[in-house]
Amino acid sequence: MNQMELYDLIIIGGGPGGYNAAERAAHAGLKTLLLEKRALGGVCLNEGCIPSKALLHSAKTYEHALHAAAYGVTCGDVAIDQQKVIARKAKVVRTLVAGVRSKMKHAGVTVVMEEAKIEGKTADGFQVSAGGEVYIGKNLIIATGSSNVIPPLPGIREHLGSFVLTNREVLELKEIPKEFVVIGGGVIGLEMACYYNAVGSKVTVVEMLDHIAGPTDREISTMLQKGLERKGVAFLLGHKVQSVEPGVVIAEDPNGQIKRIPADKVLLSIGRRANCAGLGLENIGVAYDRGITTDLLGRTNVPGVYAVGDVNGHHMLAHTAYREAEVAVNAILGNEDNMRYHANPSVIYTQPEIASVGKTEEECKEKGIDYEVAKLSMRYSGRFLAENEGGDGLCKVIVDREKRTVLGVHLIGAYSGEIIWGAAEMIELQLRVTDAQQIIFPHPTVSEIIRETLWALDD
Ligand code: NAI
Repeated sequence: MNQMELYDLIIIGGGPGGYNAAERAAHAGLKTLLLEKRALGGVCLNEGCIPSKALLHSAKTYEHALHAAAYGVTCGDVAIDQQKVIARKAKVVRTLVAGVRSKMKHAGVTVVMEEAKIEGKTADGFQVSAGGEVYIGKNLIIATGSSNVIPPLPGIREHLGSFVLTNREVLELKEIPKEFVVIGGGVIGLEMACYYNAVGSKVTVVEMLDHIAGPTDREISTMLQKGLERKGVAFLLGHKVQSVEPGVVIAEDPNGQIKRIPADKVLLSIGRRANCAGLGLENIGVAYDRGITTDLLGRTNVPGVYAVGDVNGHHMLAHTAYREAEVAVNAILGNEDNMRYHANPSVIYTQPEIASVGKTEEECKEKGIDYEVAKLSMRYSGRFLAENEGGDGLCKVIVDREKRTVLGVHLIGAYSGEIIWGAAEMIELQLRVTDAQQIIFPHPTVSEIIRETLWALDD
């Protein structure tokens, strides 16, 4: 360690939270340093959101070709080439990572590709070491993301990376497994179950709860499950995985019986944990538990230190990290801003996709909120019907019975992920049903289903 360079802001972690904070801070005139140990873009760009979407789009294209006859189109031999799918995915990732690098350059952010550790605090600021150098930052944003939960079950660690895969390896498979077992029916598990089912694997999802898709509106997650079952995905709900051995996953069913599930490859997707360890947080006294403790401005218990994205353990979504990054930078700049999590949309990119924002019926019941529901099949949308031969979906709007404000919108069906932000705006702006009914939606679009469902209410 030799030099000490002084920055207004040091950011540890170059994923969506880190790179967005860096860009915003540098634009606002802060001398900004971004430290990243692995790859710019983080998990999202390199081994998460983006590469999975590239794979899923290949699967969708393949499925469209297989079912083209329903639309009057005749295709020749339809096949999917996994190696080409993976190569295209790699190209998409390279392009986006290069885009982030160029963004940093144009914004004037100094990027150092080294592992960072917080060493302590001096009168000038926080000391951070990386690659043999020490940097001083007046402010610090920690954006180190999250890692897969690896349970201490027999066989998991021994076969990790070969037989047992995480989100990293599952996006690199050169061959399509015959029998693909997914442990954990959450977001990652469902998206990958969908991909490998579409490209020909026999897929089994082993989920410990009695439902898939975690906190998703139960009616919607049940529809998704039924749809995937019709395509051949098997779901073992209420099953606890006990151990794995090459070629088999061993699980206990709800009656305590042991089941042996054959598998060529296993995806482990049982959740993620904030990356707090080894950062040197204790050297400056930053408090953390399941994630770094923050307030609605992204501030930790140590003045001048902020945490954004998965590492604070709030939502673990890239778009939440973007917004948290902006709020933290505004806090540093003294601009008024704060996080509001009640209108934070989420999307599961299965086929069909699911998108949700706000409260579910289950949540309303649990919190004793008096609510009313309006529901409409997606087949009420002209564009949906024109483009989805034999398909169906649902739009569900939940409103406060008394105040008549929109509390939640839950969708399953094509384009759901693209239109949910409009519903998020209704919730963010606390629109009443009668306000939302006055919004002009473009026609014909699937988004109109939200308007139609609002009009199904008696307001
Ligand atoms: P998750 O929390 O979404 O789902 C994990 C599932 O595993 C849960 O349903 C849980 O009940 C189950 N489970 C836990 N232990 C189990 C066991 N021993 N046996 C069987 N089932 C078990 O976690 P996931 O899918 O790993 O995703 C991690 C994070 O990444 C999430 O926070 C998610 O929001 C984020 N993500 C978001 C995406 C999106 O927005 N489209 C895409 C992929 C990931």
